[in-house]
Amino acid sequence: MRISVIGCGYLGAVHAACMAKLGHQVVGIDVDENKIAALSSAKAPFYEPGLDTLLQSVQETGRLAFTTDMAAAAGSDVHFICVGTPQKKGENGADMTYVNAALIDLLPFLAPGNVVVGKSTVPVGTAARLAELVTDHQPDAHLVWNPEFLREGHAVSDTLQPDRFVYGVNDGSEEHPAVQVLDEVYASPLGAGAPRLVMDLPTAELVKTAANSFLATKISFINAMAELCDAAGADVTHLAEAIGMDDRIGRKFLQAGIGFGGGCLPKDIRAFMARAGELGADQALTFLREVDAINMRRRTRVVELTRELCGNSLLGKRLTVLGAAFKPESDDVRDSPALSIAAQLQLQGAVVTVTDPKALENAALRFPELQYVQDPERAVRNAEAILLLTEWQEYRDLDPHLLKESMATPRILDGRNVLDPAKWRAAGWHYRGLGRP
Ligand code: UDX
Repeated sequence: MRISVIGCGYLGAVHAACMAKLGHQVVGIDVDENKIAALSSAKAPFYEPGLDTLLQSVQETGRLAFTTDMAAAAGSDVHFICVGTPQKKGENGADMTYVNAALIDLLPFLAPGNVVVGKSTVPVGTAARLAELVTDHQPDAHLVWNPEFLREGHAVSDTLQPDRFVYGVNDGSEEHPAVQVLDEVYASPLGAGAPRLVMDLPTAELVKTAANSFLATKISFINAMAELCDAAGADVTHLAEAIGMDDRIGRKFLQAGIGFGGGCLPKDIRAFMARAGELGADQALTFLREVDAINMRRRTRVVELTRELCGNSLLGKRLTVLGAAFKPESDDVRDSPALSIAAQLQLQGAVVTVTDPKALENAALRFPELQYVQDPERAVRNAEAILLLTEWQEYRDLDPHLLKESMATPRILDGRNVLDPAKWRAAGWHYRGLGRP
């Protein structure tokens, strides 16, 4: 099929490459010339495992092109809207500027039978509004809402082998003509057994925000338990392991630590609360305010613990932060708890050096006042304490004996609870985890 993908960020660039991989003829469209230039030379404009290789292999087939010109969408059968919906400045709601602009710009190029597919995470009610715009302009075109659930760091496999497909159509019916079109787009993963659910537009929009809210709640739940474990002298890692064995609960997303960040969970729960308020249903989501508050408290807690670890003063202390990205296998620093903690420590008088295998360039743009050192060995040299805040494998694998040699004082705060405290203590370290004695 001929496909256009509008918006080539973390979601769209991966989606465009994956659609070409599935055999479609794809054009990716974005207003950012730098992004388009990188993608056109088969280079991902951000770090995502497997994406460079995928871009190279599909571009060789001639099935994938990128442009800044929306007119290139003309002639496509299916148009995916993959632009961002960041948090509005100074407000909790989602900024819909990019989604609205993408659709308005696309309208002149729609032909009868075309399907516009929304993938961006939007406030419930958006799809119905956009569907009207589409049919007003081109009565024989359709709009489907097809939320995306990919995780950064696993974006390629999550797109090619998703847990499920959700199609929202205005009548909620399997017979809707757009269902067949989307089935054709996803023929390969559907054929491999991926489940597909058809529902009405608002339900499809809500599936995405509900899923992200549930994940955020699960993380904040275990972080609340970590607070309690700290108070009671218990160990949250053992607690998570034990409750996670109940398969009604499950072990995933029960990793207590410095909390969640990134371009999705924090802004999505806030936008969800804001939208619930507009709908007069704000009471239903007041618990998300607590989820957010627990999450933000983690960052303050780490700053306090670091102060304790450093003999109750941060002034002039040389600290090294391992990790700047919001999670491993990503260079994304949007609302990264690691980076926000590093900046807080610096503000409170510590001398902070940050290292990360992939995210330093993005980190330096956001917090230019921090010191960044790419080489981890150099970054920890002469430090008085280190904080492991993004659990990259290479940090999990650090050898406490070797590392101790470089340190002024062997103190470590394990912000993700991924190290073995016994091993580090035996090597002579002062070890602190979160919610562990
Ligand atoms: C999330 C959703 O998982 C995905 O389905 C949706 O499409 C987009 O938002 P992503 O932002 O890539 O994906 O990251 P995710 O893996 O969900 O992690 C989010 C944050 O939670 C990270 O900062 C991570 O470190 C943190 N986290 C995750 C925890 O603190 N503990 C956990 O147990 C799991």
